Amino acid sequence: MASTLEALNISKSYREPLFKNLTLKVPERGLIFIKGPNGSGKSTLLRVLALMEPPDEGEIVLMGEKVGDVTVKDYHKYASYISYSFQEPLLLPTSVEENLRLPTKVSEQKLSELIDRLNLKQLFGKKASKLSGGEKKRVDIARAIIRETPLLFLDEPLSFLDPSYVELVIELIVEESSRRSVLVTATEAIPELEGNASQIVDMVEARRSAKG
Ligand SMILES: Nc1ncnc2c1ncn2[C@@H]1O[C@H](COP(=O)(O)OP(=O)(O)O)[C@@H](O)[C@H]1O
Ligand SMILES: [Mg+2]
Repeated sequence: MASTLEALNISKSYREPLFKNLTLKVPERGLIFIKGPNGSGKSTLLRVLALMEPPDEGEIVLMGEKVGDVTVKDYHKYASYISYSFQEPLLLPTSVEENLRLPTKVSEQKLSELIDRLNLKQLFGKKASKLSGGEKKRVDIARAIIRETPLLFLDEPLSFLDPSYVELVIELIVEESSRRSVLVTATEAIPELEGNASQIVDMVEARRSAKG
């Protein structure tokens, strides 16, 4: 299969048009980088691509299958294809360890690797609700990456992080994109990500063309 996900001429508006006739082909191995300032529609685009909300127009093809009206049963199937880290970390109010052990399709090898690289061991016994913003973000990103799915969505993975973790997460994103499809958003240009991206979506341009 050449692409895991295709968006064909998708459009979306809330009070204002966010993007129009946007076409994306996400390669089986590769990185899609979506950039734009706050409020430019990055999270909306990512949710639409991950089938959490429908586009106003256009079509999405996931793993070779055209997506129609999404049923509950479909969601189970989609969840086995997609790992997602929200902009605001969405952790369960249990320990960090439980948050990392609960997801389906977890690679144990990846889990121990990320515990090491993201320094998570020291957080294991803590309640997720007691963590700092940056700590939550590290746990949330790890929880998405350890799932072995063909698609990985990371909404602003670099926000809240200390500079040393920013470098590390960029490294992880590039590594992951050599194995599977990765879609990442950021509020600014990140040269290391843009250099490795198979497509860059600039939301300012997407909105400009949406307004006509
Ligand atoms: N569910 C929604 N209902 C109404 N407006 C929304 C909704 N989601 C997003 N928006 C609006 O769409 C615009 C883009 O938001 P968002 O996709 O969160 O941007 P970004 O992630 O780039 O900061 C904002 O003006 C936001 O208020
Ligand atoms: Mg956002």
